[in-house]
Order: sequence, then C-alpha cells, then structure tokens
Amino acid sequence: MDAFTFYPPRDFGPLMKGLVIGGMGIFHVFLAQFAIGGGILMTYLEWLHGRDECDDARPFLDGFFRLLVLVSFVAGAVTGVGMWLTSIQVGPRTIGRMVQHFHWIWAIEWTFFAVEVAAGYTYYRYANRLGHKHRLRLLATYSVASWFSLFWINGILSWQLTPGRWVETGNVWAGFFNPGFWPSLLFRTVAAMAIAALVSMVVINAMDVSRERKLALIRTVGRLLVPMVTMPVLAVWYVATMPEDSRSWVMGGSVAMNLFFGIAAGASLLVAAYALLGIMYRRLYINGATALMLVALAFGATAGGEFVREGARKPFTIRKVLYSNSITPAEVSHMREHGSVVDDPYPLERSYPNPQLEVGAKVYRLQCSVCHTMDGVNGVTHLTGSWSRTQARLNLAQLQQTKPFMPPFAGPASELEALVQLLAWHQAGEPDTWPESRDPAVLREIDGYLEEAGTDPSTEAQRAVSLKEKQ
Ligand code: HEC
Repeated sequence: MDAFTFYPPRDFGPLMKGLVIGGMGIFHVFLAQFAIGGGILMTYLEWLHGRDECDDARPFLDGFFRLLVLVSFVAGAVTGVGMWLTSIQVGPRTIGRMVQHFHWIWAIEWTFFAVEVAAGYTYYRYANRLGHKHRLRLLATYSVASWFSLFWINGILSWQLTPGRWVETGNVWAGFFNPGFWPSLLFRTVAAMAIAALVSMVVINAMDVSRERKLALIRTVGRLLVPMVTMPVLAVWYVATMPEDSRSWVMGGSVAMNLFFGIAAGASLLVAAYALLGIMYRRLYINGATALMLVALAFGATAGGEFVREGARKPFTIRKVLYSNSITPAEVSHMREHGSVVDDPYPLERSYPNPQLEVGAKVYRLQCSVCHTMDGVNGVTHLTGSWSRTQARLNLAQLQQTKPFMPPFAGPASELEALVQLLAWHQAGEPDTWPESRDPAVLREIDGYLEEAGTDPSTEAQRAVSLKEKQ
C-alpha cells in the first residue's frame, strides 16, 4: 500500500470545518444560480422586446437588474474560488481525486466560465451602444455559457454522492453522467430561473413606472416560475438515485437532515404555490415586500437543499472511495494495525501534559475534526460528556454503528485509548498533569470491541442494502 500522505492541518476554531464549506457553499450556489437564471431572464426579455411584446423590457434591462447580475456573477466567481480554497485545506485528498479524474472536464468548465465572464461584462459595458440583434446575441452567449458551466461542474459534484458504474469501470463518462446527473442538473436549472424571477420582482417593484406597467412586467417574468411545477418530480427522482443509506438519513434517519429536507421542500412549495396562484388569479400583484419574502424563502430552500446534498454523502466525500476524513476504506484496515498518526509530521497547536494525550490530539485531528470540534459546533467533549470511560471505549470503537454517518475508527487500541484519555482530560477541565493509561487489560478490551466492529462502513446501512438485494 502507498504511504498515507499527510497534508498540513487546518483549524477554524469553534467552527466545524464542514460547516465552513457548507456555509460558503450555500451563498455560492445561490449567487451562481441567480447569475444563470438572470441571464436566461434577460435573454427572454430582450427577445420579447425584439418582437414588440414587452413595452418595459428595455427600461428593466438597462436598470438595476443588470448590475445585480454583474455583481452576482463576480461574487459567484469569488465565492467559487473561495470554496476551492477552503475545501482544499479541509479535504485535500477529495479535491486531489476530483482534479485527477476530471482534469479535462474541469478545463472545459473553466472555458465556458471564461466565455460567460467575457460575454456578461461586454454586455454590461456596451449594451447601451448596441442594437437589438447584438444585445440578444451577447445575452444568449452569456446564458448558454453560464448554463454549460453548471452542466460541467454538476457532473463532478453529483459524482461524489452517486459515482455509479465509475466505481467499477473508472470510466470518466460513467462518472460524469452518473445516476444523479440529470435530476440535479434539471433541478438546479429550474431553481436558477425561479430565483431570477423572484429577484426581478423585487427590482420591478422599485422601478419608477405605473402600477399597471409593473404588473404587466411581473406577469411576464412570472413565466419563469412555471417550471417549478416539475420540482416535486425532479426531487423524487434525485432522492431515488441516492444510495439507500443516504436516502434513509434524509427520510428520518438523521433529525438534522430530515429537518433541512423539510425546510427545502416546504419553502419551495410555498414559493411555487404563491406563484401558481398568481398566475391563476391573474390580478394577483406581488409587491416588493412579498417578493423579498419569496426571495428569502428561495434562499432557505437553497440552503436546506445544499445542506442535505452535502450531508447525505456522509461518511464519504466520494462514495465508497474516500471517507469524509480523507481516509480510504483500505487504509482503515492498514491503520488498525500500524496506527494512523505515527507518521504525522505536523506539530500540534498547543501543549499537552503527556505524550499519550498528544497522540490522542493527533488522532482527533486526523479522524474526527472534519465533522466535529472539541467543544464548539458538534463538540465531541459535550457529545461524550455523559459517557463512562467504558462506554466511550465501546462507542468509539464501533463508531460506524454509534452513528451510521461516521466512518469506522482507523487505528489500534492504543490510539483509541489515547483519544478517550484526551476527551476525559478536556472534560476534567484540562488539568496540568494527567496520568497515562497503559493498562493491558483495557487495551485488550478495546481490541475486542474493534474486532467486533470490523472495518466496514455502517453495518446498519449495509444490512438494509443486502436485505433489499435478497428480496
Ligand atoms: C463524516 C463526519 C464525521 C466524522 C469523520 C466523525 N463524526 Fe462523530 N458524528 C458525526 C455526526 C453527524 C454526528 C451526529 C451528531 C448529532 O447527532 O447531533 C456524530 C456524533 C458523534 C458522537 C455522539 C454519538 C451519540 O450517540 O450521541 C460522538 C461521541 C462522536 N461523533 C465522536 C466522533 C469521534 C471521536 C470521531 C473521530 C474518531 C468522529 N466522531 C468522527 C459525524 C462525524
């Protein structure tokens, strides 16, 4: 087996690493989807203008909305780079694999993005000097390019959760057009159009034109909300492509995931219901406050959806290939025998009263810190606060059974005991001296627990899968 590579560790204090990525991801996705939907909406209005079917298309297109789209695609790009910067610190091996497998796809995505930026900025800068034909071409180029940058990145991101046949064949296209590809691409496209329509309604309300003209414009842009009727079907399709265990987290196995899924679905339903009512009773006027509230709901739906998508992958960042803590399933067995942190060259950020606690701190840093903090968000000190030492030894040894969204513990009994001691030391208020725990009977006991737990991911999830296969 190749030697395990240690990358420089990164700590965000009380903020969980996963949460830092997730939080930035939500803003990024919202901005980027708005930038895509905004392009589609502007293209549509310019096209209507060419056919003399929308009187106020031009004042709208030349107004504030154009600036918003510019700001969002610049901010989308900046947060996008920010995402890679953070995730390469938190999960360098995950990003490494992605670059390795999808190198050219990434290059293609980047070219489309470059076209998007060039077309978008040219439009922003020169639209008022150009005629209809050239404006329409620029906008269409911008929209197509931005949608295709979604197309390409969507394949890489959905591959993480549903790598499909790629796991066996290693074929790039099998990985790219994985089971989750189409439902997630279509879902995001519909979401992008809906977000743009809602934001445009806020802008229209602020325009200096009569109420009738605003109403006419709102009805026109409201058409971009109609595809939302396909969202339930797309969501069911997407959830159906998820691996069995991931689906069970979403459907109730994890309270947090279930809750966020509920928020995403509920918020989308509210927006869609309001929009449909508005279209059915054609007089319904969406004022600025309502439009803002709908935008907020759409943001909530995006946040919930992204949380679920990121969370459903646990305990993997790349399904079946790499655990969230950057350890591969094969390495778990290897580390059970040889230790996980013996070769970790990076110093610890603080000092500990004895070498055993230092080992514990390194084990925590390598295996747990991606999803936990010591005593902040999802803090392990609190989670284990009520456990006896024996309980802690048992529950950590069978980590994948304790909560099926955790990977198996990857180290020998001595490292596990070091971790247990570290937690106990924190719970005791970090005293200056702390005895080492080297009782062979304790280590034998832990060995027994580890043996029983095995090195496979959650047996609960696996049992569900094999039961299904037998039926
Ligand atoms: C893939 C992410 C992930 C990794 C890696 C991970 N955990 Fe967890 N862990 C979770 C989640 C999510 C929960 C559930 C928190 C909750 O229920 O509020 C959890 C729960 C726990 C709990 C509480 C269990 C219970 O039954 O209440 C403990 C203790 C714990 N983890 C310890 C650890 C330790 C120690 C490590 C490292 C050896 C670790 N975890 C690695 C995600 C992870």
